[in-house]
Amino acid sequence: MIRTDTPQTIRLTDYRAPGYLINHVSLNVRLNREATRITARLDLLPNPASPDAGGPLVLDGQGLRLEAINIDGVPLTEDQYSLDNEHLTIHKLPQRAVCIETETTVDPSANKALSGLYLSNGVYCTQCEAEGFRRIAFFLDRPDVLSRYRVRLEARKSEAPQLLSNGNLVMAGDIVGSDRHFAIWEDPHLKPSYLFAMVAGDLACVEDSFTTRSGRKVLLQIYVEHGKEERCGWAMTSLKAAMKWDEERFGREYDLDRFMIVAVSDFNMGAMENKGLNIFNDKYVLASPDSATDQDYAHIESVIAHEYFHNWTGNRITCRDWFQLCLKEGLTVYRDQEFSSDIRSRPVKRISDVKLLRAQQFAEDAGPLAHPVRPSSYMEINNFYTATVYEKGAEVVRMLATLLGEEGFRKAMDIYFARHDGDAATVEDFVKCMEDASGRDLSQFFHWYEQAGTPQVMAQSRWLQSEGVFELTLTQSLAPTPGQPTKPDLDIPLAMGLVGPVGEDMPLDLEGTGVLNNPVIELREAVQVFRFRNVRQRPVPSLNRGFSAPVRLVSNFSAADEVALMGRDSDPFNRWEMAQNRASEIITRAIAAPDHAVSADLARGYGEALKRVLADNGLEDAFKALMAMLPGEQDLARELGSNVDPAAIHAARDALRRALGTQLEAELQRIWEALPTGGAYSPDPASAGRRSLGHAALDLLIAGDAASGAQLALGHFHAATNMTDKMGALNVLARIDCPQREEALSAFYDSHRSDPLLVDKWMTLNAVAPFEGAIARVRELMQHELFDITRPNRVRALIGSFAAMNPVQFNAPSGEGYELVAGVIEKLDGFNPQVAARLATNYRSWRALEPGRRAKAHDTLTRLRDRANVSRDTFEIISKSLEG
Ligand code: BES
Ligand code: ZN
Repeated sequence: MIRTDTPQTIRLTDYRAPGYLINHVSLNVRLNREATRITARLDLLPNPASPDAGGPLVLDGQGLRLEAINIDGVPLTEDQYSLDNEHLTIHKLPQRAVCIETETTVDPSANKALSGLYLSNGVYCTQCEAEGFRRIAFFLDRPDVLSRYRVRLEARKSEAPQLLSNGNLVMAGDIVGSDRHFAIWEDPHLKPSYLFAMVAGDLACVEDSFTTRSGRKVLLQIYVEHGKEERCGWAMTSLKAAMKWDEERFGREYDLDRFMIVAVSDFNMGAMENKGLNIFNDKYVLASPDSATDQDYAHIESVIAHEYFHNWTGNRITCRDWFQLCLKEGLTVYRDQEFSSDIRSRPVKRISDVKLLRAQQFAEDAGPLAHPVRPSSYMEINNFYTATVYEKGAEVVRMLATLLGEEGFRKAMDIYFARHDGDAATVEDFVKCMEDASGRDLSQFFHWYEQAGTPQVMAQSRWLQSEGVFELTLTQSLAPTPGQPTKPDLDIPLAMGLVGPVGEDMPLDLEGTGVLNNPVIELREAVQVFRFRNVRQRPVPSLNRGFSAPVRLVSNFSAADEVALMGRDSDPFNRWEMAQNRASEIITRAIAAPDHAVSADLARGYGEALKRVLADNGLEDAFKALMAMLPGEQDLARELGSNVDPAAIHAARDALRRALGTQLEAELQRIWEALPTGGAYSPDPASAGRRSLGHAALDLLIAGDAASGAQLALGHFHAATNMTDKMGALNVLARIDCPQREEALSAFYDSHRSDPLLVDKWMTLNAVAPFEGAIARVRELMQHELFDITRPNRVRALIGSFAAMNPVQFNAPSGEGYELVAGVIEKLDGFNPQVAARLATNYRSWRALEPGRRAKAHDTLTRLRDRANVSRDTFEIISKSLEG
């Protein structure tokens, strides 16, 4: 049966201010596993600024059982209101302030959607962004309704010794004559309903404090399952570093006396910035040397910072409507990226962020799910927490910072905080602050928020020796995306340099402007010629340094110039970029070659350049590690763009890995042997960099000689005294078909089967094998006693990783990979549409595949879309994937 009621599309142009405002909310929550009873008193009044004031009051509500309703203490009769699946409508209201009281019951134990009030390992917790509050109480569940909250929680004392909500604890006590107790919390700050949170359960608490710049002492608490206290140290360290950084870099202090973080194991997303009470997926809190890798440590640091930074960019200044999501998310990602850059290595962070941007956002932008950083329509808002809104949203903020300069950008942010504190703001409000601080007209720049797709910039250059002029011709273009057939020209800031023979940056004397202090040129027209004067020696142009603009750059620059920049550009990002370009070209040729053989000459040239990089004592290990990693298979697929055969890409990439592994064996061996084993573990960037370089070397060694490499890896696994080394070995072993792989995987399972986060790692290692048998293994693991489809982390670890990190097997020519994932989506969609829909985005590049796989993917998608009872979330993703 085909879905007949096509879900409604919500449009930005239909925005209307709320007809009513809710100044104060008083919740009384009596927690019970199967029937939690919630009384909500809303102090409500007509919004004088809205033409809808005086009309019917339509409250959002989903899955609520209405027990009672009154206005100013007078119960409503049945003709005064109506109920449907999503709303409670009160037909007529007195045109003055009133108090509406509803009493509802919900069943937390049955909530497997993990939105609203649910149980995670017996702990009551909530997730309200974007539209989960309506599963707790009837409300105007939209971000432009800001209220003060007072929350009374009540539960059985033995079941929930801790009762937490936003703000300050004002009272707590026992309920005499019963086994229950209560706590009352008040949040003095106005907030939208999506920032509401409550938690109740039996949790351990780790405490510390932070004294703000102005001398206020803030109590810091991290709540975790009993027994996990020892794993909270890194999260606490990261939180304090983030609080300090926001004071120093943005002048932002924390604004409550207490900041709480709760770690739960069942969570749809990574973490959530609820005011004063952040709730985290425990994988972004818990870390110890023997359970978390260097990467996990770095992620924890940045996610803790991200959610903390939302206190100003998101909470104090929130979004007017969900179309403005990038206002808080893009900006906060930019802030967390800058935080990590400041406390770690800036170039390494930038390269990692660009890798992520390309892998996720460029892929999204190139396919049927492409949308602007600020979308103009959606069916289900949960589908728009995307790489475009987050990662490209952060790039757009970064470009503004580049255009305004460090000081100018800080000034603009100060204006933004001063002008919009307490507001539900728009992207226009934000950009206006940038304009007012700089005096610039940013109307052309604004297209970055509205145009989907990755712009292409074509660069052609020539050196006019006799004139001493270097001429750079830049052409921009942007291909059509769904709903946007033509595109206006963008304002593209390109940081650049002209590199001289020994790697020095020549002065940039731009005709018509003069010598540039800030080495950034702006491409604003379709075609623009930039002429640099006094260029007496032939330069090598280095464009889009630091990836100043999220574009695809193509040029007529020679391979020799690329290799030169790889060896000596003063911009580390472009050294890496040139290495990636070279590698892509070599692999692309091998894809087209018989047996996917790699050109020995090209590989040798590349290997020599890489050898020089690895030998350079002036470079950080983490940077060298990135230099030694070839472009990913999906990056290569995206570059090809059509008729993609994932198996051919894998084979061609492997051929280059093998050639490098053989050619550089001696160097790699030296690096490998320098990797310390044993000894105390420290997650600091230098130690982590050493490990990542060692593991990158291992990856190439194993490509050069699988048998001896596998022995090395197995030895490393057994000798490892921390999780980073264990995973370093397993990550390479997992991808080759050898007995050492099976030995290491089962040893890992035996030691860590009782630790859920490590079981997740084990599931992923099993799912990423690029060879025959992977699909059967995943199917087998779906029957494993430790697989549980209701737990998002487990589903993502096994199925999400298979779909996203194993392109060869997910795209098996038989179509079995597609069917496997589709089967999970189908099941999951019945109770957790958010996670199901996200899993469904893995088919987004299906149209770029070669005809055989394309047909299989098309069949699977069509069947998924046309199911009875497909959720709105999954329907939107699949139908758009099929249409685009
Ligand atoms: N506000 C989001 C969490 C969220 C997203 C809630 C979607 C509901 C729906 C939070 O600030 C966030 O962005 N979390 C990210 C991690 C972050 C470090 C980018 C996440 O959960 O993936
Ligand atoms: Zn966020």
